[in-house]
Amino acid sequence: MSVFCGDRHSAIAPAKINLTLRVLGRRADGYHDLESVVAKVTLYDGIDLVSEDDPAIQIECTNPAVPTDTQNTIWRAIELLSNRAGPLPPMRVQLHKRIPLGAGLGGGSSDAAAVLMLLSRRLDGRVSDSDLAHIAAEVGSDVCCFLQPHTVYISGRGEIVRPVELPWRGWAVLVFPPFGVSTAAVYAAWQANGSAPDRDAEICLKDTCNTAEKLDEVLFNDLENSVFAVEPRMREAREHVEDVAQQRFHVTGSGSTLFACLDSHEQAEQLKQRIDLLSGLKSLVTRVITSEDNK
Ligand code: C5P
Repeated sequence: MSVFCGDRHSAIAPAKINLTLRVLGRRADGYHDLESVVAKVTLYDGIDLVSEDDPAIQIECTNPAVPTDTQNTIWRAIELLSNRAGPLPPMRVQLHKRIPLGAGLGGGSSDAAAVLMLLSRRLDGRVSDSDLAHIAAEVGSDVCCFLQPHTVYISGRGEIVRPVELPWRGWAVLVFPPFGVSTAAVYAAWQANGSAPDRDAEICLKDTCNTAEKLDEVLFNDLENSVFAVEPRMREAREHVEDVAQQRFHVTGSGSTLFACLDSHEQAEQLKQRIDLLSGLKSLVTRVITSEDNK
């Protein structure tokens, strides 16, 4: 979602959760082929592009732990876009970071996608949708899934994206263990025989998967064992929160965020209260963004 106001262009960049995640195998280029249903949730970074005189890329961020140089996904997105489309209007990027880092929520990827979409609108057709998708894939495997506003099915290394309709409309309670997990380390630890064979990543799209209880039966993440191997505190955190909350929790992406699916806002708030009272872990109630949201 984006807003234009004078010399300021603003957007919000949502977090994602992987409802299913199947790893098919390691590729010759070092990446892994995946299949995943990815939902967006109502936890957002805020992005402002402010007009400037200085043509150098400038990024400011509310979280000092976020690199504001070439390491930043936004920097790479701007650089690749200007390589493709020619000089961009000089601007300063203000990033209001709310999505935790190293959390499997795709914050950096979502920020890059939001900036690409904002800028492409200002370029009046100088970049096609397919150019934008190529640039997004070059910035990172997860960036393409954020070029679509709602739930998507992704494949390849994450760059092949198809919008899908989730039969379930509900709430996700996110729990944030107090550490991040390295995505590269988790993929490096993945072993083919550690995954259950031939699970269907699209299973949560079946009409019958329309309640949180049914989703809990079918959701899976083939990276889970590697996450627990790389960061044993993740297994402990999940056992702890499941124990005190009496609720099933899933790992999103390569961790470290855990999420639970609930059918109503009331149930989600009650769960958060239990977590706050009993677990010592931070949590947040979010809603899964659907195609109804932008109507
Ligand atoms: O593409 P991105 O830079 O976001 O990926 C971070 C790291 O995660 C990659 O360097 C790679 O080690 C791993 N990865 C992977 N297969 C994918 C996506 C990411 O191995 N499909």
